[in-house]
Amino acid sequence: TDTDLLFKDRVVVVTGSGGGLGRVYALEYAKRGAKLLINDLGKTTINRQTYNAADLVVKEIKEKFNGIAIANYDSVDTRGDRIIEQVINEWGRIDVLINNAGILRDKAFNNMTEKEFTNVLDVHLNGSYKLTKKAWSYMKEQNFGRIINTSSPAGLFGNFGQANYSAAKMGLVGFAETLAKEGYKNNIMVNSIAPLARSKMTENVIPKHILKNLGPEKIAPLVLYLTHETTKVTNSIFELAAGFYGQIRWERSAGQIFNPTDENYFTPEAILNKWDDITDFKTDIKPFNKKSHPVELSDYNALITKAKALPIQNDQGSLKI
Ligand code: NAI
Repeated sequence: TDTDLLFKDRVVVVTGSGGGLGRVYALEYAKRGAKLLINDLGKTTINRQTYNAADLVVKEIKEKFNGIAIANYDSVDTRGDRIIEQVINEWGRIDVLINNAGILRDKAFNNMTEKEFTNVLDVHLNGSYKLTKKAWSYMKEQNFGRIINTSSPAGLFGNFGQANYSAAKMGLVGFAETLAKEGYKNNIMVNSIAPLARSKMTENVIPKHILKNLGPEKIAPLVLYLTHETTKVTNSIFELAAGFYGQIRWERSAGQIFNPTDENYFTPEAILNKWDDITDFKTDIKPFNKKSHPVELSDYNALITKAKALPIQNDQGSLKI
């Protein structure tokens, strides 16, 4: 029908798609006509036979949908650029990039080695960088691109034992926000998702009765929606799990303006005295995240102009001894 979101002849790269969420995305794209690159360095063992995980998904795509797919076994962090080169050589374009590959090295921060910290950043953040960097110029030239960075609730909110993972996952959000701004004029839309789903990564971490509701097929619909050619959503973060789909955004409190003409008012004591106003989210909340544009400097200039117009108030909080 007219409302079908098809991906006919779109070239889609999903990293880490030999299993878990990536595999489910790949199958859904293939079903809707896309050409897929299935990247995964992992192996899968069936009946004591070991296969490249990516090969099995390529085979599944061909058998189930008579689809078009090629495999790649490179690690995203060391050879991410070659993954993009492979689709350019094969199909001459790259339309959709899903930065999905990931690992966990959980440990309380006190016990976490530097290697455990940097390895996780390398795969998630630097791996996403490598592919995105290579894809970017092609997307600009085509005047079309859709990119998803995979964040996590652990990145947005923090989680015990995941200092490395949280740093990487929040890094991916910042990375996406800047790319969204730089890519907008070339029709490159960049968003982040924070999913929760049943997979190898979570099967031993989340209780069974909860896992039951966390099917990965509940994550794919939003990923496909956000990467369709008709979707103009960018610079956004979505949290999704178990059939729930929501958006996350930054907020700035109403805040307190200190009149900048009087040096005396810029004191720690002034901050102490006005703490409740500085942190007041009840009134006049401003979304910090405009759809596709940066927070303009004029935004701050307006605040300063407003501040300068204020009469100096005695209760503003100058040093009180
Ligand atoms: P998964 O472990 O089933 O899949 C990840 C895949 O990435 C594996 O097949 C693995 O072999 C591959 N991979 C790992 N390192 C790689 C590398 N250097 N190069 C290429 N491939 C590599 O895990 P899942 O759950 O499907 O995770 C997908 C993404 O979603 C990850 O980025 C993860 O951090 C994120 N995520 C998952 C959540 C969940 O609840 N499952 C929660 C929040 C985020």
